[in-house]
Amino acid sequence: MNDSASTPTELTTRPEWAALTEHAQAMRNVHMRELFDRDPGRYPRYTAEAASLHLDYSKNRITDETLDKLFALARSSGLSDKIEAMFRGEMVNVTEQRPALHVALRSLGDEAIEVDGSDIMPEVRSTLDRMEEFVWRVRSTQWRGFSNQPFKDVVSIGIGGSFLGPKLVSAALKPYWHGRLNCHYVANIDGSNITEVLRYIDPETTLFLIQSKSFKTQETLENTKIAREWFLQNGGSEETIAKHFVAVTANMDEAEKFGILRENIFPMWDWVGGRYSLWSAIGLPTALTIGMENFRALLSGAYSMDRHFRHAPLEENLPVILGLLGIWYSNFHGADAHAILPYDHYLRGLPAHLQQLDMESNGKSVTLEGQEITDYRTGPIIWGGAGANGQHAYHQLLHQGNRLSPADFIVPLRTHNPVGQHHTILFANCLSQSQALMRGKTEAEALAELKAAGMGDERAQALAPHKVIAGNKPSNTILFERSTPRTVGALVALYEHKVMVQGCIWGINSFDQWGVELGKQLGQGILDILEGKAAEPGSLDSSTEGLIRRFVSRHDP
Ligand code: F6P
Repeated sequence: MNDSASTPTELTTRPEWAALTEHAQAMRNVHMRELFDRDPGRYPRYTAEAASLHLDYSKNRITDETLDKLFALARSSGLSDKIEAMFRGEMVNVTEQRPALHVALRSLGDEAIEVDGSDIMPEVRSTLDRMEEFVWRVRSTQWRGFSNQPFKDVVSIGIGGSFLGPKLVSAALKPYWHGRLNCHYVANIDGSNITEVLRYIDPETTLFLIQSKSFKTQETLENTKIAREWFLQNGGSEETIAKHFVAVTANMDEAEKFGILRENIFPMWDWVGGRYSLWSAIGLPTALTIGMENFRALLSGAYSMDRHFRHAPLEENLPVILGLLGIWYSNFHGADAHAILPYDHYLRGLPAHLQQLDMESNGKSVTLEGQEITDYRTGPIIWGGAGANGQHAYHQLLHQGNRLSPADFIVPLRTHNPVGQHHTILFANCLSQSQALMRGKTEAEALAELKAAGMGDERAQALAPHKVIAGNKPSNTILFERSTPRTVGALVALYEHKVMVQGCIWGINSFDQWGVELGKQLGQGILDILEGKAAEPGSLDSSTEGLIRRFVSRHDP
């Protein structure tokens, strides 16, 4: 690593960066209210469409000049070439010496994609065909449990990318679920997770999917041991394990050693990052519940977004626009966070998935060249939750807090469940939030409102400052017809590419995750002490040591 923490990075020495810094200064006193009042054509000018998604980015602190400067920054980072490099399978994950080819998993074209000189597409396609056959056998009841009953429950055991993506997509596509099959996810090493799942299912009608790229992840292996024991203690046998346990992994040998039959193992590859893997066989829990036709539609939605990302000009490119807007706020307006606010019950898992996708990808502070980044911010804190629930909880901070967190409102035009006036009310709530964030309320407006309600002058003067809402809070709105496999595929791919755009401009590797390793390493050492396999080293800090002592003296053996 470059030892000079205060050396400016190449990015911040570019004229494009300086131009944005200066422009941000000039924009400080411009309120979006004025921009809208001045320009009735703002909405049509700052909207874009691709892959059935409609993006309104007009409620941002931008003018044409801002966008020109942001696109200039993207060009100075060689963004178009880097996008092409990713699609062509170049080794963009330099620290792990791999390409990042999640786009190959949903490539419906006939283009060859080479890794180490051989085309990976035949294996991608044959794995999809294998998945198709397996999904058909389970759903058509050809593949049954040990007592010849059809499966009713699918339990996916996996964590991180082997959990959040499939869980999001399964929940997002609930209206497409097979009537008989229920899908459960076990991720945590908190025993309550698996206990609560096993409590309500029957081993005779349960299929376990063990999902782990590395097949080394402690949480997943421990949960698999418990599932296996439970199966054996409740009517299953070593001979019938093969009917009930299937694995998805890039580490076949380890899975086999663990007792999974080789023919029950679906492959994935080291060129797919965990957080980008829901499109691979890691998507099996989803495919089983929604069916392979719908799973392929999910891939095709992502593929449409991929083509758009690869070929659309930067100025019309949805992931590029979203990525640059994020950079505008993180790097030139001091924003630390970004909210994901899906106004769709089915998409309520999106913030959690995007948290991993974005924060594990761009939570980095060293450039590709190994220089510590001290002069600009990288990945923001991703947070959020389903609307309208959030309005009655954390939206207060968005409206009146003094931190800046841009937000994405994500809302379908139609619902799968037309109940009463619900969807219209939901949609109105969504629009009113982005409108309120943009407009705010001036003190004069607050005062006038209070007086109109009959409040005396003195009391109204005292109360008005509390009712002032600054406004000028940026947001994007993403609309689509309905949550379908295609739109959900396009939406998730949109964010994957947004993250790539930002990583490219920040000059970091979005495809590794060394930061999660330290906790794993230290965790093993502490576990050994807790289990009495290792003595406490004298060098432990007093906090860790004190907490270990309390655990050892209190916990049930
Ligand atoms: O700890 C983080 C992580 O490495 C993620 O990147 C990954 O998705 C997750 O662990 C699970 O890993 P695996 O699929 O190898 O079990």
